[in-house]
Parts: sequence; C-alpha cells; structure tokens
Amino acid sequence: MSDSKLYLVYEGLLLPAHVHSEESVRYAREEFQVRDDDVFIVTYPKSGTTWMQEILPIIYSNGDLTPVLTIPNWDRVPWLEQTTAQLTLENKPSPRLITTHMLYHLMPKSFYTSKAKVIYVVRNPKDVLVSSFYYHGIAIFLDNPGTFEEFMQRFLEGNVIFGSWFDHVKSWWALKDNENVLFVSYEEMLQNMKGMVVKISEFLGKPLSDDMIEVIVNQSQFNNMRENKMSNYKLVPNEILDQTKTNVLRKGISGDWKNHFTTAQAEHFDSLYTQRMKGLNFTFYKD
Ligand code: A3P
Repeated sequence: MSDSKLYLVYEGLLLPAHVHSEESVRYAREEFQVRDDDVFIVTYPKSGTTWMQEILPIIYSNGDLTPVLTIPNWDRVPWLEQTTAQLTLENKPSPRLITTHMLYHLMPKSFYTSKAKVIYVVRNPKDVLVSSFYYHGIAIFLDNPGTFEEFMQRFLEGNVIFGSWFDHVKSWWALKDNENVLFVSYEEMLQNMKGMVVKISEFLGKPLSDDMIEVIVNQSQFNNMRENKMSNYKLVPNEILDQTKTNVLRKGISGDWKNHFTTAQAEHFDSLYTQRMKGLNFTFYKD
C-alpha cells in the first residue's frame, strides 16, 4: 500500500503531496481560466513530459534557445495542478505553454468550452512502468517502490500517482479526432524526431524554417537535455531527488522493459492490456 502521508487523494487519484494541495487542485479545476491560445502538454507521468517541455518553448521562441537554457522546465511549461500554478500561470502572457498529468474529466471547467490545444504524449506502458519504478527509487516524495513485481502490481491496479495508465490514456484517446488534440508517441519521437517536430509545429500553426527545425532536433536530443541544468532536474537537491542513484533523464530509450520483465510478467501485462484496451483501435502500443 502507498504511504498516505506522501499523497493527496483527489477524485480517487494519488497525487504527490510534495507539490499538490487541496487548494491547488481546486484552483486548477474550479478557477483557472483557460485561454483559447493556451497549449497543454498532457501526459501520464514518465511518458516524455520533460522532452515535450524542451521542444515547445523552442518552437515558440522561433529557435532561440534562451528560454530552455535559462528557465527551469517547471517554470517554462508549468504544471496546472501544482501548488505554484496560480503564481506562474495566471499572469503569464499568451500563448501559455502548460503541462498537466490530469485526466480529461478533471481538466479546468473553462477548458471544455475553449479552443486550447492539447498535445498528448503517449509511451509504451511497459517502459513507463520501468521508468516510474526507478523514479520512485530516487524521489523522496514518493513511496518506496518495493520489488519490481510489487511495483508492477501497483501499476496495473492503478495504485500509483495519477492512477491507472489505462484510464489516463483512454480518457484522452476518446478525443483523438478533435482538431485541437494531437497524439504523439515517445517511440515516434525517438524514431523520427524531425518529422515529429514538423508535425507538432504544423498542429500549432507555427511553421518553422529548416534551420529552426535543426536547432530543435539537436537541443532535444537525450544527451543534450541531460546536460541542460534547466531540464535535467539537477537544480533539485539530492535530498529530494537523489540523482546519485540514477538520473531523472535515465536511459531515454524504448524497450528497456525487456531488461526488466520476465516472460511471465510480460504475458500477464499483455493479457491485461488486451482486456483494458479492447475495442479502442489504439494504434500506438508496440512491443
Ligand atoms: P527513462 O526513465 O526510461 O529514461 P517524464 O519527463 O514524463 O517524467 O518522462 C521521463 C522519461 O523520459 C525518462 O525515461 C527520460 O529519460 C525520458 N526522456 C526525457 N527526455 C528525453 C529525450 N530527449 N529523449 C529520450 N527520452 C527522454
């Protein structure tokens, strides 16, 4: 079971109490005024949030790297539901870039009537699980993950931060045909970053020159982001995020699950996946 002191329970979801409060989630849902030109990065944790927080600001600065080299990712593209949101987002000039891990039905009330855009980043859930397992091992504000088998059980039951991966993806996948929503996968970004940058910039109505595309592709490479103090979470003290054990930007690959799952665990995961995603024509998950 999860350590209750570490978590705020909101609408059945566990949220890290370190950066979330009753007031911050109430503000996000009830009071936050979404603007038509807001752009939301929506993710289930460990799916590529930080990566997208690198890409979008460079698109909006027309290739100028100053924002990503001088402003921490959490201020550059702040989280809607966190305790600092009101301060960082309310008076931010448009267009605002905003991050959220919220499910669709928990978005701000003003979101549903707005024209705000959403980029949903989805990642192979087995790799999400592995990434999250290591993250729990270094984040003092999350409970101990236990063994890999134990953590997998929790993940599959949805007894982890922001709840079930299945519920999260399904809640947003229902919006996939909405013209204001773009689904992007972590795996496609790895395979064809240039193509994804073009797709994202077209979706945002921000066409880019070849030079700008080059700048974005280069800056958002794993090794470059790992060196960027404004993106690698090294500004957070080791007492809170112990990166002497492993980095937040840990491996940055797809398929690391194969180094962690037994055959039986993979079969169990796949069979549950088939049940939970049945009939959805969900095109992103591949082994
Ligand atoms: P791993 O732990 O598998 O390495 P989030 O930002 O949503 O918390 O997700 C973190 C995961 O995204 C980590 O996965 C991290 O290494 C990976 N990631 C971050 N930036 C990346 C990049 N530029 N290229 C590939 N993976 C990246």
